[in-house]
Amino acid sequence: MRISVTGCGYLGAVHASAMAQLGHRVVGIDVDANKIAQLSEGEPPFFEPGLPELLTESVTSGRLRFSTDVREAADATVHFIAVGTPQTVDGNAADLSFVNAAIDALLPHVGPGHLVVGKSTVPVGTAARLAERVRATGARLVWNPEFLREGYAVRDTVEPDRLVYGVEADDETSVAVLDAVYEHAIGLGTPRMVTDFATAELVKVSANAFLATKISFINAMAEIAEATGADVTQLADAIGYDSRIGRRFLNAGVGFGGGCLPKDIRAFTARAEELGRGEAVTFLKEVDAINLRRRARVVDLAKSELGGSVVGRKIAVLGVTFKPHSDDVRDSPALDVAVVLKGLGATVVAADPKGLANARARHPQLEYADDVADALRGADLTVLVTEWPEYVGLDPVATRELVAQPIVIDGRNVLDHRAWKAAGWRYRGMGRS
Ligand code: UGA
Repeated sequence: MRISVTGCGYLGAVHASAMAQLGHRVVGIDVDANKIAQLSEGEPPFFEPGLPELLTESVTSGRLRFSTDVREAADATVHFIAVGTPQTVDGNAADLSFVNAAIDALLPHVGPGHLVVGKSTVPVGTAARLAERVRATGARLVWNPEFLREGYAVRDTVEPDRLVYGVEADDETSVAVLDAVYEHAIGLGTPRMVTDFATAELVKVSANAFLATKISFINAMAEIAEATGADVTQLADAIGYDSRIGRRFLNAGVGFGGGCLPKDIRAFTARAEELGRGEAVTFLKEVDAINLRRRARVVDLAKSELGGSVVGRKIAVLGVTFKPHSDDVRDSPALDVAVVLKGLGATVVAADPKGLANARARHPQLEYADDVADALRGADLTVLVTEWPEYVGLDPVATRELVAQPIVIDGRNVLDHRAWKAAGWRYRGMGRS
């Protein structure tokens, strides 16, 4: 099939590459000329495991090309919208200006029989609003939310755990077209659900709201564990054995961040309030508050471990990205902790295998070390806030030789606390001691 993908960020670049690898002819469109130049050379403008290979293969095969000129979308018959919907600057709602601009630019090049497929995460009601404009061109609209995780984006795109198509009533033609696009995944037995627009939009935000709630639930238990001497990691293991609960997304720590979970729960709350149903999701404000308290907890622990003040003390911050296997620092708890500690007067030296360029661009006031040993050398306190395997696997004995004081805050509860204590470290976890 001939496909266009508007928006070549984490979502669109992976989607375009994966669709080309599956045999479709794809053009990726983005307004950012630098991004398009890089992608055209087969170089992803961000770190995502597996993407460089996929991109190079697809570009070399001739099935994938990139352009800043939306007119090139006219060759395609299926048009994906994969632009971002960040939080608005002055509120909690989602900023739809990129979606609106993408639709405005695309529609003049869309014709009868074409399909416009929204993948961006949008407030419920958006698809219904856009459908009329799409229909006026003779094309149809489908809302097909994306569930990929950064770090596993390629796998999640090629082999998703489910497909959701939000369509207008009885639009079997659009369903058949999308089935052809996703023939590979459907052939693997991937569950595929056809719903109305509102359900499809809500599936996406409610999935992220559920995941955020699960994380904040265990972080709330961490707060109770801290007051009682209990161990939240053992608690999570024990309740996780109940298959109705499940162990995944029950890792207590510095909390969730990134470009999706935090802004999605806020946008969901804002939309529910607009609909007069704010009460139904009031709990999401608590989910957000619990999450942000975990960042403050790490800072408080740092202060108390350093005798009440961090002023003039060297703190090694291990990790700046919102999670490992990504270079994304958007709303990163790790980077937030580093910035607050620096603001309180500490000398913060942060390390990260992939995130330093993005962190530097946002927070040039911090010191960054390419080599983790440089961050650790002479540190009065070590704070692990992103569970990169290279930090989880640090040897506590060798690491002790580098630091000035063997005190570690394990903001992700991933270190072998017995081994670290045995090596002479004072260990502080999150909801465990
Ligand atoms: C999330 C969802 O997991 C995807 O399904 C969704 O498609 C995506 O948002 C999106 O809306 O595009 P992602 O933001 O890549 O994916 O990251 P997650 O793996 O969900 O992790 C989010 C945050 O939660 C990270 O900061 C992670 O460290 C934190 N987390 C995760 C915990 O603190 N504890 C856990 O047990 C799990």
